[in-house]
Amino acid sequence: MTALTLSTAAAAGLRADAIVIGVAKGTGSSGPVVAPGAEAVDKGYDGRLAGVLETLGASGAEGEVTKLPAPAGFKAPVVVAVGLGSQPEKGSGYDAEALRRAAGVAARALAGSKKAAFALPLADAADAGAVAEGVLLGAYSFDAYKDTSGTGPKNGKNAANGKNGKAPLAEAALLGTKPRDKAYRAALERATAVAEELNRARDLVNTPPNDLNPEAFAAVAQAVAKEHGIKVQVLDEKALAKGGYGGILGVGGGSASGPRLVKLSYTSSKAKKHLAFVGKGITYDSGGISLKPAGHNETMKCDMSGAAAVFAAVVAAARLGLEVNVTGWLALAENMPSGSATRPGDVLRMYSGKTVEVLNTDAEGRLVLADALWAASQEKPDAIVDVATLTGAMVLALGNRTFGIMANDDAFRAAVHEAAEEVGEPAWPMPLPEHLRKGMDSATADIANMGERMGGGLVAGLFLKEFVGEGITWAHLDIAGPAFNEGGPFGYTPKGGTGSGVRTLVRLAELTAAGELG
Ligand code: BES
Ligand code: MN
Ligand code: ZN
Repeated sequence: MTALTLSTAAAAGLRADAIVIGVAKGTGSSGPVVAPGAEAVDKGYDGRLAGVLETLGASGAEGEVTKLPAPAGFKAPVVVAVGLGSQPEKGSGYDAEALRRAAGVAARALAGSKKAAFALPLADAADAGAVAEGVLLGAYSFDAYKDTSGTGPKNGKNAANGKNGKAPLAEAALLGTKPRDKAYRAALERATAVAEELNRARDLVNTPPNDLNPEAFAAVAQAVAKEHGIKVQVLDEKALAKGGYGGILGVGGGSASGPRLVKLSYTSSKAKKHLAFVGKGITYDSGGISLKPAGHNETMKCDMSGAAAVFAAVVAAARLGLEVNVTGWLALAENMPSGSATRPGDVLRMYSGKTVEVLNTDAEGRLVLADALWAASQEKPDAIVDVATLTGAMVLALGNRTFGIMANDDAFRAAVHEAAEEVGEPAWPMPLPEHLRKGMDSATADIANMGERMGGGLVAGLFLKEFVGEGITWAHLDIAGPAFNEGGPFGYTPKGGTGSGVRTLVRLAELTAAGELG
């Protein structure tokens, strides 16, 4: 990953391949405006940088990149002007998300470069953290399978050697920051831990399902957890059968690769609270016997994005030494059709003891989550948050950049929403209307795994709610839309796995540690 440094160096004398500056939209009909932080660069152009940028067609719009030759006397050959969107209101600085996105866009535009200096408008350490995060997330690329030498991804070869496409930006210096200041260093450390784990989650999502089955995912979790002093327990098919995890077993039964339930326990000696995160980890969702048609299954390797997010958040919490106990539950299974697969019409006895009539084997996420939610509930945590690519209905409702938040507690749902907005993850609160419950009434079992088609995302949420232990505060994030970006990259979001949910979970852990939640 990109190496980050804090720097007080002057832009002109810095040896780098490029200097990144910010440009914002002018007000009314006036041209673009050079953002603070780039004064020295502007001076190099005799104060004419804004005019030069306008001549080159720059407007300062978000996502825009304009490259121009650096002024005479500068060691770096190129200036990269990145759009910040509208200027902030008088008296306040650029918001963190604008900086994060611009830094991501610039880092991606600088793929193939060794070193870039970032001279963006940083008002404080938090802004430096945002830029650091944007750089690390924007520079991400997944090239493990692009190596055509035939040696495969396992020997560590990838496009970083430049064979297939450009290597990610190797080094970024953040100018105008304070290398010895505690707050700046902490911000950089936080950004690094969060972004590295988030990028690991992206890698897991992007890894094709023939290489990432439940067993392989569990093995990665085990290895990484060990590295960071996180306790890990893996239940395999045998242990799941012995424990009565009928939901996870029912979903995983059709696959040649058996299901797993992974429990990751990060504990802090100073913890006063306990959070549980539960992730849907369907390593491939074919739909099962209720098979998905072509056109609906090509990206279904992304159906373990919730588990990847939970995994990343627990490891990040451990790396940051947060003073809160965090348990992560990864409900891993592959949903496949076969002679041993669950049939529509089968009844599963869940870990909670409830029976579920499976009317559609493609509504599998709620089945694995139900067992994991009940398992998490047994420890009586202060709150449970589950993350899942659960329903196409949520994508229809909110589009592919916003996740839905449901909860059994209005104040908690609002707190989760606030945390999401704070870290730059678009999210929106959704209701759990009780009247939709009767659609899941089953003639045979306690509940069916399907209900009314309308409001399908909320129906799924209502199903999950029944498997949360009495009196436990719970929220459900349906990330089916934002988990996987099928379009082109934007801001710091790449094509493919996005790491949706990770930063919200980390923020929730931080807020809980600080006593500001629950
Ligand atoms: N994994 C899918 C949901 C999904 C859809 C995720 C699109 C990402 C993008 C889930 O398991 C599923 O198939 N849900 C069904 C539920 C239905 C059968 C009740 C759906 O949404 O169609
Ligand atoms: Mn499905
Ligand atoms: Zn699914």
